Amino acid sequence: MKTYLVTGGAGFIGSNYIHYLFEKYGSAANIINLDKLTYAGNLENLRDVESNNNYRFVKGDICDASVVDPLVREADIVINFAAESHVDRSIGAPDDFIKTDIYGAFMLLEAARKHGVEKFVQISTDEVYGSIIDGSFKETDVLEPSSPYSASKAGADRLAYSYFVTYDLPVIITRCSNNYGPCQYPEKLIPLFVTNALEDKSLPIYGDGKNVRDWIYVRDHCDAIEFLVHHGDDGQVYNIGAGEERMNIEITDLILKYLKKPDSLKMYVQDRLGHDRRYSVDTAKIAALGWQPSHSFEQAMQDTIQWYIDHKKWWARLKSGEYKEYYKAHYKREL
Ligand code: NAD
Ligand code: TYD
Repeated sequence: MKTYLVTGGAGFIGSNYIHYLFEKYGSAANIINLDKLTYAGNLENLRDVESNNNYRFVKGDICDASVVDPLVREADIVINFAAESHVDRSIGAPDDFIKTDIYGAFMLLEAARKHGVEKFVQISTDEVYGSIIDGSFKETDVLEPSSPYSASKAGADRLAYSYFVTYDLPVIITRCSNNYGPCQYPEKLIPLFVTNALEDKSLPIYGDGKNVRDWIYVRDHCDAIEFLVHHGDDGQVYNIGAGEERMNIEITDLILKYLKKPDSLKMYVQDRLGHDRRYSVDTAKIAALGWQPSHSFEQAMQDTIQWYIDHKKWWARLKSGEYKEYYKAHYKREL
């Protein structure tokens, strides 16, 4: 029976991944969730699995060697999701990004080197490549990250690779495109716009709204990670994407249409600093191993919007209190 150490398991993708593991393995895998519970960590995401005997939650910081070391010793497989993850926040205050995304990854890699693991998956991002106007990035392309967030992720990405080259640690690095699905913190485009529209509040579109992202359903991302744990080659980088590129304005229109809300909710606002125009990854490498996404964009988007309709209590709490104050101070407008 394998023991998974999932860091950042109380966040959006991490909690979906823990659900995925339960559905796939039931009681046939041990799961340890190490999470600091920052504003983005939410144990509500895991209420339905927390009483399982093969699941354990540890509140702690991946930058703290005394916390990380004994947990990595127990683990066969480490999946490092823990990160500060929001580009806008990294523009305002990069410190925690450097600490968690780089130094935290370093602490985990050091513990893995000391104790040995079967697999260490560093969850990187397609944002490490920077923006591309035509074509798609291959894994061998140069990294030109343009925000403090993506630069910190690029640091961890290459640090993980160096542990493969230097210490033979069985590292796999994944670079996935933008995820959507249940339990995403309502500061990111899709949950922010869906929940704002549900409350008849404006949808703040940065710049001309024509920036492009490739949207992948979070379950497909989880499935790809698990596939790579078993079929990926050590020391390799794998792009993950769904080939569903949309301009932000297209996503906005789709949300308004599904919710039957008026166009007048659209509000063009000042552009994000250093806003990457387009992200696009070439996924031929993982496809050649035999993996492809299985959810259709249209259906998974509908399911996602419906999830936010059905879980108002989940997001209404997050959008009140501290975050509301943060949003007002940071964006100079009401949430
Ligand atoms: P998230 O912000 O929803 O969750 C991050 C989690 O990490 C939270 O639970 C938080 O409490 C925890 N955390 C933060 N600092 C920590 C620390 N020092 N120690 C322990 N735990 C800590 O992020 P997400 O969207 O779920 O992203 C997860 C990972 O996937 C990140 O590494 C991110 O860079 C990467 N990624 C995200 C996307 C996306 O579209 N969301 C796409 C590609 C890659
Ligand atoms: P986001 O969800 O922050 O993800 P990322 O920046 O990591 O791709 O943003 C997705 C796109 O949506 C990006 O081009 C910025 C844009 N955006 C807005 O136009 N308005 C918003 O309020 C937010 C949060 C994002």
